[in-house]
Amino acid sequence: MRHFTIAAVLLAFSAPVLAAPPARPARLGLCAACHGEDGMARIPGAPNLAGQKRDYLRAALAQYRDGRRDIPMMRAAVGPLTDAELDQLADWFSAQTPAKGAP
Ligand code: HEC
Repeated sequence: MRHFTIAAVLLAFSAPVLAAPPARPARLGLCAACHGEDGMARIPGAPNLAGQKRDYLRAALAQYRDGRRDIPMMRAAVGPLTDAELDQLADWFSAQTPAKGAP
């Protein structure tokens, strides 16, 4: 009985950890000036990234890096990044909640 209780308590506390948002990417600072750490754009012309589909963001990043989307400022930002770093950034921005009332 006591063991059952301990297991139940452990389960109750581990579930929220499993659902935790993605870790803050090491490269987030490269994007924040234009897209915001929260994925809400900080400059005119930059899209909001918050809450966009993870796979869409990941594909877009690959396209900027390899030049299929030919946008020099995005290419400069993601050019040196690894696949794993692009994964982390796509995870992060898709997990952000868009701010209410934003354009
Ligand atoms: C100097 C400003 C600037 C920086 C820095 C920057 N971006 Fe962008 N980003 C833009 C602009 C402008 C666009 C729109 C380009 C276009 O028309 O395709 C864009 C587009 C995107 C898109 C496509 C969104 C969509 O809806 O199609 C993604 C994803 C993205 N950026 C992610 C990032 C990430 C991740 C970083 C950091 C590694 C970053 N950007 C750094 C300006 C910037």
